[in-house]
Amino acid sequence: MSAIPSTQAAPDARAQFLALLADALHQQSLVKLVLARHVGDEADLQRITAKPLTVKGTPSLQFVYRYKTRDITRNLALDEALAQIGEWLPGSFRNAHLLSLADEAQLEFSKKGKPMLHRNAAQQVRQVAAGEHDREKKRYLELSRPFLHDLGVTDKQQALIPAMSRKWKQINKFIEVFSHAFGSVALPVEQPVRVADFGSGKGYLTFAIHDYLSNTLQRPAQVTGVELRADMVELCNKAASHLEHPGLVFEQGDVRSVVPASIDVMIALHACDIATDYAIHTGIRCGAAIIMCSPCCHKQIRPQLSSPGCSSRCCNTACTWASRPRCSLTACGPCTWKRAGMKPRCSSSFRWNTPTRTR
Ligand SMILES: C[S@@+](CC[C@H](N)C(=O)[O-])C[C@H]1O[C@@H](n2cnc3c(N)ncnc32)[C@H](O)[C@@H]1O
Repeated sequence: MSAIPSTQAAPDARAQFLALLADALHQQSLVKLVLARHVGDEADLQRITAKPLTVKGTPSLQFVYRYKTRDITRNLALDEALAQIGEWLPGSFRNAHLLSLADEAQLEFSKKGKPMLHRNAAQQVRQVAAGEHDREKKRYLELSRPFLHDLGVTDKQQALIPAMSRKWKQINKFIEVFSHAFGSVALPVEQPVRVADFGSGKGYLTFAIHDYLSNTLQRPAQVTGVELRADMVELCNKAASHLEHPGLVFEQGDVRSVVPASIDVMIALHACDIATDYAIHTGIRCGAAIIMCSPCCHKQIRPQLSSPGCSSRCCNTACTWASRPRCSLTACGPCTWKRAGMKPRCSSSFRWNTPTRTR
């Protein structure tokens, strides 16, 4: 705030602030509310921000609780939200900043608990956030999750890095599929959900499933990523401990020899060669309630494909398929992939079709 035309130390400064907030909500002019200088009991809670939102037709406020290493989102209908904010001031927060289309107001409590209200006309032309929760595409994870930044999916401002948009889609799709499967099995709620991710690589999906279980669903989870490459394991363990993902570990090992005691969820996505087969076997032996896997299309199918070169009836471009020994297929590699209904790249939407020979 650049200027403070009026500063009041009236005893009802808190009540005035809450009245301003209620007005802004009812006039649909609230842009944002920030509660800061946390003095409550909750360890690591730093601040709470709130924005208007419509949930299933009900005007609501969306609260984002910002902790040291994570965010938690909670939506409350307006009356409930106002009551909750009233409870927080000043017991849990000593500073509240209200931004509306017409107003900018700040409520501060001194060390002795004396409220002070600073008001100013809105300095900039602002827009009320769209708040159309109902119309947004449902995402199972939020871009603000700290692990996404550590793994290079988001930048410092928690915005998606454009080159990672495909990975971000894949992560969300994976959690979407998992959430449906998880909803259809009855695992005992008093026990942590035990998950093994074989061939975890850089850990995108391992972190995502741990975050979904422990943060979104608030279920304790023991998630283990098993990975051949020691550098990946080190990188992931570092991120897991620095981000405080309790119950998430990465072990260096071969799917063929690592056998966990028992697991509820077995994951093996795009593990190389026949690692997926071993993982499926392990999942079945361990009595996993959910098995999610897709083979590595590159390493499993590619050696079986070869081409004599591209004929004009296949495609009219020069064939760039590198390996073409013992060819018995009439199409070039990429066209054969296409014909067989496969994508020439690993992807979670991969569909398994046996390639047919066309000779
Ligand atoms: C294509 S990456 C997939 C990573 C991750 N599952 C994903 O979908 O994002 C395959 C990973 O499996 C690992 N891998 C391959 N064979 C393995 C084996 N036998 N045991 C453990 N990890 C293996 C590789 O080192 C690689 O990091």
